[in-house]
Amino acid sequence: MRIVIAKDYEDMSARAARIVAGQIYLKPNSVLGMATGSTPLMLYKELIRVHQEVGLDFTEVTTFNLDEYLGLPKEDEQSYNYYMFHHFFNQINIKKENIYIPDGMTKDIELECKSYDRQIQKKGGIDLQVLGIGNNGHIGFNEPDIKFEATTHKVKLDEETIQANSRFFNTMEEVPRFAISMGIKTIMHAKKILLLASGENKAEVIHQALFNGITPEVPASILQLHQDVTVIVEESAAKLLKPKLQDLQRTGI
Ligand code: PGA
Repeated sequence: MRIVIAKDYEDMSARAARIVAGQIYLKPNSVLGMATGSTPLMLYKELIRVHQEVGLDFTEVTTFNLDEYLGLPKEDEQSYNYYMFHHFFNQINIKKENIYIPDGMTKDIELECKSYDRQIQKKGGIDLQVLGIGNNGHIGFNEPDIKFEATTHKVKLDEETIQANSRFFNTMEEVPRFAISMGIKTIMHAKKILLLASGENKAEVIHQALFNGITPEVPASILQLHQDVTVIVEESAAKLLKPKLQDLQRTGI
């Protein structure tokens, strides 16, 4: 695992964008795993800039999003489908048919989940998966006490996640309680993982995820077992990591 401390949110996003852009330059038909939330917003902005100014080409790129709320149509401004098109896809030259996001309005959830995993396999697996981390340690919507062997599945959102997500909705009642999410197994199959964390409120959880034991109570802790993870942590989120990293440097580990 490579841990990079970025000096601020801009720096974290620029470093992440360089990794994603590098992936596309090296393999133009890359399969990317995409995340939503506040954390990757500037990463997407930066990739749009690189597309517009330097011609980063997305025509052969395929994307799979981590998750989607159940019960929200694509057009709903709070759906992750809307988020992705609004913040990213509408401003790059990706082909619509290469964009995969779970259907939050599906009539057959089990089938939707199975075909999502099948599509990922058909495309040769995810080359680079971008991840944020929830305050409760979730990745995607894999909430604490998740089964590590889960593939894409329906999840009941944690009370903490519902609270965190409520900042985007007018009332608590409107916040979806269920979602479809790639499972931990799906995520762990990605060839490379890029985990981003920003803000002091993530300091505790990112420390737990990277330096405490691997436990389903902190789903992101499973990433310690992945062979190719880069973690970019913005300074304030890294405040508990710094002493640990200095110790590791001192002992030469
Ligand atoms: P955030 O969410 O980027 O909005 O903090 C991260 C997550 O819940 O995975």
